[in-house]
Amino acid sequence: MVKMETIVIILLFFATVRGLGIKDVVVVVLSQQNGHHLRIAENLKKDLLEQADGLQGKPVVHLSHRDFPHVGDWTILPLIPQLYDLHKDNSSWLVFVEDRTRIRLKKLHKVLQKYDPNKPVWLGHALHDTEPTIIHHYAFYDDPKKFKYPNVASGTAISGALLQRLAARLRQRDAPRSDFGIDNGHELALFVWDKGVGEVLTDEPALCVQEEDFCAAFPAPFRQCGEPVENESIFFAVKTCGKYHEERVPVVKRTWARHATRIQFFSDVEDGTIPTVDLGVPNTERGHCGKTMAILHHIKKKLKDQPDIKWVVVADDDTILGVSRVQKLLSCYNSTESVALGERYGYNVRSPEGYNYITGGGGMVFSGALLKQLTRPGVCKCPSISAPDDMFLGLCIASLGVTITHSPLFHQARPVDYPPQYLQTKDAVSFHKHWMIDPESVYDQWFAQEDAQQSTIYTHSEL
Ligand SMILES: *[C@@H]1O[C@H](CO)[C@@H](O)[C@H](O)[C@H]1NC(C)=O
Ligand SMILES: *[C@@H]1O[C@H](CO)[C@@H](O)[C@H](O)[C@H]1NC(C)=O
Ligand SMILES: *[C@@H]1O[C@H](CO)[C@@H](O)[C@H](O)[C@H]1NC(C)=O
Repeated sequence: MVKMETIVIILLFFATVRGLGIKDVVVVVLSQQNGHHLRIAENLKKDLLEQADGLQGKPVVHLSHRDFPHVGDWTILPLIPQLYDLHKDNSSWLVFVEDRTRIRLKKLHKVLQKYDPNKPVWLGHALHDTEPTIIHHYAFYDDPKKFKYPNVASGTAISGALLQRLAARLRQRDAPRSDFGIDNGHELALFVWDKGVGEVLTDEPALCVQEEDFCAAFPAPFRQCGEPVENESIFFAVKTCGKYHEERVPVVKRTWARHATRIQFFSDVEDGTIPTVDLGVPNTERGHCGKTMAILHHIKKKLKDQPDIKWVVVADDDTILGVSRVQKLLSCYNSTESVALGERYGYNVRSPEGYNYITGGGGMVFSGALLKQLTRPGVCKCPSISAPDDMFLGLCIASLGVTITHSPLFHQARPVDYPPQYLQTKDAVSFHKHWMIDPESVYDQWFAQEDAQQSTIYTHSEL
C-alpha cells in the first residue's frame, strides 16, 4: 500500500514540475479535400506553428483527411484509435477543431493547464437543445436541456486519459455502430457519455462561439473569396408537386426567388401561373430520385444554349435560402472542378463501407463540371423513382471518385432546431422546413437584407 502511494506522489510531483508543454498538445483539424477548405486548413496549421515560435516546443497539427483518410473522418470517432496509437506515449491533450476555427495558442495552453490530463476529462463550448430536435433524433425528449455536447467549431479537447478509454471502447467488438451521421459534436458526446457511465462534457468558457479577448478558440465567420458569383451563373431548381403549389410555392416566390435570375419550379403537375415544368415523373411520397435526376438531365440540356450557367442549386419548395449568400459562398469554389456542396450527412460512416451525401432540404449545389459527369449516359441510374434522391446522389458521386464538400452554412432544419450559439457566426446560407414557423420571417431575419442590397449594388454599378 505504502509503495503504491509513494509512486502516486512521485508521479504527481513529476507532473507538476514538468508542467504541460505545448508539444504535448495535438491539434486535429477536421479538414477536407476541396481546394478552398484545404487552403483554410493549411493556413490554420501554418498559423499555429508560427504562434509556437515564441513558445517552448510546437504542437503536433494533423489535417484529418490527409493523415487519417476515412469516409467518416469528420465524425471524429474513427480517428480515435489511430490517434491513440500515434500519441499515447507523448501527448496530454487532443484538440479537435474545424478549418474555420481560430486558435490563440498561448491562451489554449493556459486553459489546458487548468485541467489534469491524467483524468478522463473533455472540454468544449457546451451546447444543449432547448427542444427535442430532429437532427438529434429527438434525443432526451423528456428534458433536452440536460445533455451537453460541444460546439466543434469552438474546439473540443480530450485528455490523454480519456483518449485511452475511448480507444479501448472503440476497439471492442461490440462497439456501437451508427446509422446516420448528422451532428458530429452531439454524436461524439453520446458516445463519450456512454448512457451515463462515461464522461460529461466540461464547459470551458475560453472555447467560444465568437471572437472575444479572453477566447482561446472560436469559429471565424465566413469570408468571401472574391466577387460574388454572378446571378446569371446560378440555376436554381425548386422541386415541388401539385399539392404544394398553393401552400409553399408562393412563399418561395415572395422571398428568395425574387432575387434569383434563373429559377425554375419542377412539378408533377403543369401550372402556368407559377409556371412549373412537368418532367413526366409521377410524384412519390418519399424519395425523389426519379424527379431529381430528370431535373439534372433537363438542366444539362440547357447548358447548350446557356453556357454561362456554372452552378446548379437543387432546393425543396420549403428550403429557405439567401441568394446573395449563395453567390458570395460560391466565390470560394471552382465551377470547372467537380464540386458537390451542402450540408453533409453520413450513412454508416463509422465503418469504411459507409458513404456521405448532401442532405437535400438545405439545398444541394453542383458545379457545371460535376453536372456533366452526373448526367453521362449510364451513370447514376436511380434504383427506383422513389429512392431517396440525396442519398442516391451521394453514392453516385462517390462512385465517380468525387468527395462531397461540407459547408456548415447549409442547414437541413429550421433555426429553432439548433442552439442559438451554434448559429452565432450568423453566416447561414440556408434553412429548411416551414413546419410550425413563419418561413417569411425566417427569410426576413436571415437573408432579406443582403438579398435586397445585392440587387441594389448591381443597379448602382449599371449607372
Ligand atoms: C509522438 O510520437 C509520434 C510517433 O513517434 C510522433 O509522430 C509525434 O510527433 C509525437 N508527438 C509529440 C507530441 O511529441
Ligand atoms: C442580376 O445581376 C444583374 C447584373 O449582373 C442585375 O442587373 C440584376 O438586377 C440581378 N438580378 C437580381 C434578381 O438580383
Ligand atoms: C479552376 O480549376 C481549373 C481546373 O482544375 C484550373 O485550371 C483553374 O485555374 C481553377 N481556377 C481558379 C480560379 O482557381
